[in-house]
Amino acid sequence: MAEERLLVKLGGSLGGAAGVLDELAAHPGELVLVHGGGPQIGAFLARLGFSTRFEAGERVTPPEQLEAVEMVLTRLGKELAHRLSLLGRPAVAVSGRDAGFLRGQAEVRLGRVGRIEEVDAGFLEALLAAGYTPVVSPIAVDGEGALNVNADLAAAAVAGALAVPAVFLTDVPGVLADPKDPGTRIPRLGRFEAEALIAAGTVAGGMVPKVAAALLALDRGAPWAAIATGSPGVLAEVLAGRAGTRFLPEPV
Ligand SMILES: Nc1ncnc2c1ncn2[C@@H]1O[C@H](COP(=O)(O)OP(=O)(O)OP(=O)(O)O)[C@@H](O)[C@H]1O
Ligand SMILES: [Mg+2]
Repeated sequence: MAEERLLVKLGGSLGGAAGVLDELAAHPGELVLVHGGGPQIGAFLARLGFSTRFEAGERVTPPEQLEAVEMVLTRLGKELAHRLSLLGRPAVAVSGRDAGFLRGQAEVRLGRVGRIEEVDAGFLEALLAAGYTPVVSPIAVDGEGALNVNADLAAAAVAGALAVPAVFLTDVPGVLADPKDPGTRIPRLGRFEAEALIAAGTVAGGMVPKVAAALLALDRGAPWAAIATGSPGVLAEVLAGRAGTRFLPEPV
């Protein structure tokens, strides 16, 4: 397998799926990980008696829920870093609060939700150069404090800033022409087709920000992006173009 440096976004939908971490730990090239945590955040908020609302697949985060969201994401990042380290890949969990490396702007309509405006790529480069795999929790900062960032969009911003491919690992084989039929994977998507699938409602829920993130990653400098199932062997299959849905920049 090519020793390509990759950004991998690990969906919270994968839960504790052990095979995925073995796969990541064994990747011969450098990795930067960004993780989600949708189901885990939802469960924790429910235990606190909060209810959650989504807008176009994105969690609305009222200021009083931010603390719990950040706690869950931070814990998940530390768990991932710990497990990867035990598998022989020393990893360090960070969020945008560390060295202020992810600066965002609030999307006030969604509460304390942010869009990433600036990524300090040098911070991640320093960790990589020291031999550590960064595990990024999707929290950015603005003048007021922390912002919850949709993990797919955070991954796009980071992949763009590092100019590396973005691989989104989730619980489905890619973008499906029929969301109920895993056999209907679409191998390649261009921007126009992708936007049409969102407009038609074929791409819905958590797949909306993910497809938007794949396109955003290309806009911000990633050479390609892909959405695939988090499973053993998946990175080699995606790199070979045999698994997932791949997004390429439009020919100019
Ligand atoms: N056309 C489609 N093709 C594939 N999946 C789709 C489609 N439309 C909607 N989906 C849904 O999108 C889901 C993946 O997004 P989801 O946000 O649930 O996972 P994730 O992003 O991996 O996890 P997290 O949000 O915790 O990081 C799939 O499980 C599927 O139910
Ligand atoms: Mg999601």
